[in-house]
Amino acid sequence: MTKLNDLSSPLAFLKTRKSGSVKALGLPGPSSAQISEILDIAVRVPDHGKLNPWRFVLFEGQARADIGNAFAARWKVLHPEHGEESLAFQRGLFMRAPVVIVVASTAAPHAKIPEWEQLLSAAAVCYNMVLAATAMGFDAQWQTDWVAYDPEAMAAMGLKDSEKVAGIICIGTTTAPLEDRPRPDPKALLTRWAKA
Ligand SMILES: Cc1cc2nc3c(=O)[nH]c(=O)nc-3n(C[C@H](O)[C@H](O)[C@H](O)COP(=O)(O)O)c2cc1C
Repeated sequence: MTKLNDLSSPLAFLKTRKSGSVKALGLPGPSSAQISEILDIAVRVPDHGKLNPWRFVLFEGQARADIGNAFAARWKVLHPEHGEESLAFQRGLFMRAPVVIVVASTAAPHAKIPEWEQLLSAAAVCYNMVLAATAMGFDAQWQTDWVAYDPEAMAAMGLKDSEKVAGIICIGTTTAPLEDRPRPDPKALLTRWAKA
């Protein structure tokens, strides 16, 4: 059986990388110094035009519970028919990991760089953050969920109207063994182009 997140070499790591699941992310999470290190690595991504079209919002400690109250209040407005169990789940959305980092895309119209490329750079930031946290020995999952798309929830997280959520990166330590999933066969996805 393949050892997942094998840190013995860069290639071994990339070949065995596996997200943790937010359903099983406990302590420890990264310290303040480790969060800084994760962010340093996260911004080391391809970025056409050097626009830095992304920024971060960090949730740790009590902030995770506070934002959960805002999510639950919004959920109640959106789904008045849902009961307390459903509300409790929304309240606990960011409590599922010790550290949650929202990656906001700040993509905007630009004379030379299409917004699409700016969004792609934000996706690279999200993935680099997952890689960084995992390489440091933590487990991480790139999440979105409804709060990434609801304007009120986005505003509650501190996003501006012009910004999008590229990812909600949950970081902690898995409390359950990681299980791989079947990976696509790249050969089946490859077309070798040849002149007609
Ligand atoms: C943009 C984006 C949003 C995602 N949102 C969620 C999500 O809300 N919930 C979830 O369980 N997985 C989500 N995923 C998938 C996980 O990040 C991850 O790919 C999955 O747990 C499988 O693990 P793997 O990365 O080892 O393949 C999302 C992935 C991407 C790229």
